[in-house]
Amino acid sequence: MPSDWLTGPRVALREYGEGDLDAVLRYAADPEVTRYLPWGPDSPEEAAAFLARVVAQANLRPRTQYEVAVVLRASGELIGAARLGLAPAQGRRGDIGYVVRRDMWRQGVATEAARLLLGFGFAVLGLHRIEATCDPDNVASRRVLEKLGMQFEGRLRDDLPMRDGWRDSLLFSILEGEWRARQP
Ligand SMILES: CC(C)(COP(=O)(O)OP(=O)(O)OC[C@H]1O[C@@H](n2cnc3c(N)ncnc32)[C@H](O)[C@@H]1OP(=O)(O)O)[C@@H](O)C(=O)NCCC(=O)NCCS
Repeated sequence: MPSDWLTGPRVALREYGEGDLDAVLRYAADPEVTRYLPWGPDSPEEAAAFLARVVAQANLRPRTQYEVAVVLRASGELIGAARLGLAPAQGRRGDIGYVVRRDMWRQGVATEAARLLLGFGFAVLGLHRIEATCDPDNVASRRVLEKLGMQFEGRLRDDLPMRDGWRDSLLFSILEGEWRARQP
């Protein structure tokens, strides 16, 4: 099993491994979890394809996608996913996303995992700006972004193709200086 990469008080982020399929299916096959997402609910084949893709991605250099597993530090149990993507241009810009298994919602997991990615993006990769988007109806995700200190910038029209048509997105961002000002 891959070792922990970034650690917070309760959760850690680690690379995915081939043995994670059952744990991935526990969130990725849940229609309640994927309701506001452009993918899923995943079949076992789709989840296996996701795993193969992110395991391969982790070995690419330069690395532009950090799609990692969120695990509980106490037990090592995989309970969700977190992602930091880097824009291809010179803009020192990234974007984040997160998913948490339903029985673990409202315990601060997504906020802690996303905070670890912001710290890595700004302090280690030297990014200047990190963005995130969410469905306008996704109250929980919006709340996570606000708790991270991300600022609402506006509404992107028809941003994503969903199962039932185009979806608007709310755009949030945080800048390097804003993130530094929030560090203890
Ligand atoms: C969005 C999601 C990742 C949040 O995960 P989480 O671990 O429960 O988030 P946290 O516990 O860190 O924080 C959630 C915040 O939203 C609030 N919240 C959660 N559900 C809510 C709801 N239905 N209505 C209002 N607020 C809600 C929580 O109370 C908490 O805020 P608080 O600390 O001020 O009380 C989780 O709901 C999820 O996996 N959803 C499906 C996937 C998804 O939408 N991902 C985001 C894509 S943009």
